[in-house]
Amino acid sequence: MKKTVKDYIRTIADFPHEGIMFRDVTTLFADARGFRMAIDQLLHPYAGEEIDKVVGLEARGFILGGAIAHQLSVGFVPIRKKGKLPGAVISQAYKLEYGEAVMEVHDDALMAGEKVLIVDDLLATGGTCEAGIKLCERLGAEVIGCAFVIDLPDLGGRKLLEKLGMNVHVLCE
Ligand code: PRP
Ligand code: ADE
Repeated sequence: MKKTVKDYIRTIADFPHEGIMFRDVTTLFADARGFRMAIDQLLHPYAGEEIDKVVGLEARGFILGGAIAHQLSVGFVPIRKKGKLPGAVISQAYKLEYGEAVMEVHDDALMAGEKVLIVDDLLATGGTCEAGIKLCERLGAEVIGCAFVIDLPDLGGRKLLEKLGMNVHVLCE
């Protein structure tokens, strides 16, 4: 049987804390066929749509987002954890499945009216992506979609993002 994207993802129990089943995409990224399949499938619903920039969420969203931006021949913008970006930033606090954090983006990374696609490996509570959406919108950009390899439906992220009116695209649960 032909392997699907899900077949390339490995689960590691009790990482980074006891009780967390960590969905590890490094095994997907390390496989040439799996990685290309993931990039192609992430882009599929947006064929023909106008996208000015791809926004990646730290850290695995950088790997996916960089490849997607290259495929679309558009620029890539990183949204990073607090204190990592060298220039002037805007910040947004958010809650995680396990903890709290702050995301930042350079204040000149997006222009008003730009259409952006947000990319990450995994959607859990949706807190990270919600922070990313807020940062993009605070810069005046329009988020046309949020694309993930994995959704953990029990954690409610997809419902949260859809309540915000977002187009959400996931490859597997
Ligand atoms: C993971 C994942 C998403 C986020 C999803 O990143 O890659 O970015 O959690 O969780 P949420 O939907 O509940 O917000 P993590 O915070 O582990 O950071 P890392 O990618 O820097 O390791
Ligand atoms: N981020 C939040 N929850 C996660 C999980 N279960 N696996 C991988 N990344 C995550």
